[in-house]
Amino acid sequence: MPPPPRTVVITVPTLILTLSGAAIFLFFLISSLSYPPPSTCTCSTTKPVDSSPSSSLKERISASVEDIEWVKKQIEVNGLRMQDNVLRKGINPRTRAQQLQDLIQYKGISHYEEEEAKNHTSFPCPGELLVEEHHSNYGEPWAGGRDVFEFLAENSHIAPESRVLEIGCGTLRVGLHFIQYLKPEHFHCLERDELSLMAALRYELPSHGLLQKRPLILKGEDMDFTRFGSGFTYDLIYASAVFLHMPDKLVWVGLERLVDRLKPLDGRIFVSHNVKFCSRLGGDECSRRLKSLGLEYMGKHTHDSLLFNHYEIWFEFRRFKV
Ligand SMILES: C[S@@+](CC[C@H](N)C(=O)[O-])C[C@H]1O[C@@H](n2cnc3c(N)ncnc32)[C@H](O)[C@@H]1O
Repeated sequence: MPPPPRTVVITVPTLILTLSGAAIFLFFLISSLSYPPPSTCTCSTTKPVDSSPSSSLKERISASVEDIEWVKKQIEVNGLRMQDNVLRKGINPRTRAQQLQDLIQYKGISHYEEEEAKNHTSFPCPGELLVEEHHSNYGEPWAGGRDVFEFLAENSHIAPESRVLEIGCGTLRVGLHFIQYLKPEHFHCLERDELSLMAALRYELPSHGLLQKRPLILKGEDMDFTRFGSGFTYDLIYASAVFLHMPDKLVWVGLERLVDRLKPLDGRIFVSHNVKFCSRLGGDECSRRLKSLGLEYMGKHTHDSLLFNHYEIWFEFRRFKV
């Protein structure tokens, strides 16, 4: 006997549910197809918030707590710990003196000989600078320059368009970071030491690809700023570990000449370590002298180093008259 024909029983609620599901599906399908293609989009100009680390790079200068956590994690996931720097496969550690001796004796691994030796290097740099002897010129670790930059840039609220003058920029331990950050020609410096200037111009700028920033770095020790030009004001003028090495009289001459070059109210002068050039006059006389120049003392700051147990002391001034 053939099997009885199969009958499919659909109840009314099931039928209604199925039909409404299909209708909703069709509605979304048709409406999605009817959106204009991206090329004809008249979208809002509001950009989505980009929370990737690179999105905040433009605004932030110093490392965030998250940045530090991130780098600690990288050290941890790689299982790294500080090791003795001894001879090992492919690594032959040298002191600066040894490296300089090697450079003189062996001239590096691949090099040109005789006449050719003069024809291939556009801007030959003295060996002492190549082995970075000048990075140890101030006793403190070279990395402290970054701390100073971060403190000054954040506390004077500068932007890449700002103009900055450093008095006594030395080998650009600090200035290098400003030059990197600022627009071309917006970093100026007056420095008296020839060897430091050679290190700055012959090694630091070219080796960091900063020649195109055209910083104006001038040799001088008499606080004469006329050679820096006119018709603009500085947003920041700073002296990092410099005024304490100068006669008080020269510091005052410098300040007097700088007041008109500082942007009124918003511009800042920062002086590191101490302000003995002022306090040695006595409290009242110190305040009177500053006031007569049109300068106002804004307060004392300390700033901790990121990498070593050290803090810098800074004294802040502004020009109170417009
Ligand atoms: C301790 S170093 C600091 C260098 C740099 N500011 C830094 O923080 O790395 C002091 C610098 O001030 C410079 N200096 C001292 N007296 C000066 C003067 N009268 N005019 C210009 N520079 C001067 C020195 O030549 C030296 O480079």
